[in-house]
Amino acid sequence: MYLRNRAAKTAVSIFKVHLSSVQHGLSDIFSFSSNYYIPRFNFNKLSLEDEGQDKSQEGLNKASKGGLIYGDYLQLDKILNAQELQSEKKGNKIHDEHLFIVTHQAYELWFKQILWELDSVRVIFQNGKVKDERNMLKVVTRMQRISMILKLLVEQFTVLETMTALDFFDFREYLSPASGFQSLQFRLLENKIGVPQSLRVPYNRRHYRDNFKGQDYELLLKSEQESTLLQLVEAWLERTPGLEQEEFDFWGKFQKNVFEGLEEEFAMIQTKPESEEKEDLLAELQKQKDVLLSLFDEKRHEHLLSKGERRLSYKALKGALMIYFYREEPRFQVPFQLLTSLMDMDILMTKWRYNHVCMVHRMIGSKAGTGGSSGYQYLRSTVSDRYKVFVDLFNLSTFLVPRHWIPKMNPTIHKFLYTAEYCDSSYFSSDDSD
Ligand code: HEM
Repeated sequence: MYLRNRAAKTAVSIFKVHLSSVQHGLSDIFSFSSNYYIPRFNFNKLSLEDEGQDKSQEGLNKASKGGLIYGDYLQLDKILNAQELQSEKKGNKIHDEHLFIVTHQAYELWFKQILWELDSVRVIFQNGKVKDERNMLKVVTRMQRISMILKLLVEQFTVLETMTALDFFDFREYLSPASGFQSLQFRLLENKIGVPQSLRVPYNRRHYRDNFKGQDYELLLKSEQESTLLQLVEAWLERTPGLEQEEFDFWGKFQKNVFEGLEEEFAMIQTKPESEEKEDLLAELQKQKDVLLSLFDEKRHEHLLSKGERRLSYKALKGALMIYFYREEPRFQVPFQLLTSLMDMDILMTKWRYNHVCMVHRMIGSKAGTGGSSGYQYLRSTVSDRYKVFVDLFNLSTFLVPRHWIPKMNPTIHKFLYTAEYCDSSYFSSDDSD
């Protein structure tokens, strides 16, 4: 410490000596007082000296000539004048209501952007623009963008949580019966991704749509009838190259390898001397066998599908597993990223529900919601797999097997997966640019 102080003092005295010799020249920039040197900027002098060299001042103020300006382009007059505090209208202005309104509006704007991306992805699938994986990069980029927005939305609750429960209590009575439950965009989002209507938690024993009227009701109905992202991805997975029996026959080969692999393991365990360890190994193998063989039971799959425990068709499930196994093949790399981003979206939606319900609990405890539900209890029941859409993709990890059980590709399928077909004219079509 002593040495450090001495070094600092020496440095200051050298600096002072040096400074006194150049003091005159620097007086334009520093004001000298007895102990301190205070920076003082003479903008006039600088700009005169640097005239013609100061690049930061180059350019023309284009807006001075008229035309579209920032505020008009973004229609800020509408957005920034849309914060009407109910508490103020009722003659009891509560400071935090402004934050409450702005937070909800920010959420709705981001929901709008998510729907924009999601609709565009659905159109790409719907128009068959994903043939031979063309356009998949666009699809994946947009899905990843959705995930980034959702990450932001999951975190955004923390800003609102700077409001205390008591502060919220001050203006809550003015909001009723308004509630996030009536968010049209949130419901459209759930429907378009593919939350099954049959699995929705009822709201006061009623259908969620009963809370909407007129055009909003019609929009919701339409979104329930249109192809969901889940259905579109399912159709795309069903045509995964390599599934056809007459060609690579992935499923047939995979099933054969699993049977053989299980038999080999059984034989290997049998060579061990009788012991508790051997019994444990056999019991473990039996469990593994039950799980893996269930995968080849199509009837069981249909049964789980009817109960909502599986969501993808049997063929699509096979396609997804193929993409999992062969994700390093050039043709499957982007499809694998898509499957990953679909799971990301599901996880982030679940985290959104979770963070929302935690905040609600903190703000209103177990009081009923302004929309009329049981509040916390109702919301808690929505944080479940019922609302997960791509649940099968998560469950695929149950069926992963040792690498050497995965069927080896023959040169024909390998070459097919390695090359994309450039003969498709849609590659150059202008529709693709959207
Ligand atoms: C103090 C903050 C908040 C409280 C106390 C709160 C409370 C509630 C409650 C109690 C419900 C259940 C429906 C009801 O009976 O009203 C609900 C639903 C909902 N809220 Fe909030 N909320 C808050 C903030 C937000 C924010 C910032 C958003 C963002 C858009 C939001 C979006 C939603 C949505 C979408 C639902 C429907 C969820 C579903 O049915 O699955 N809430 N909220």
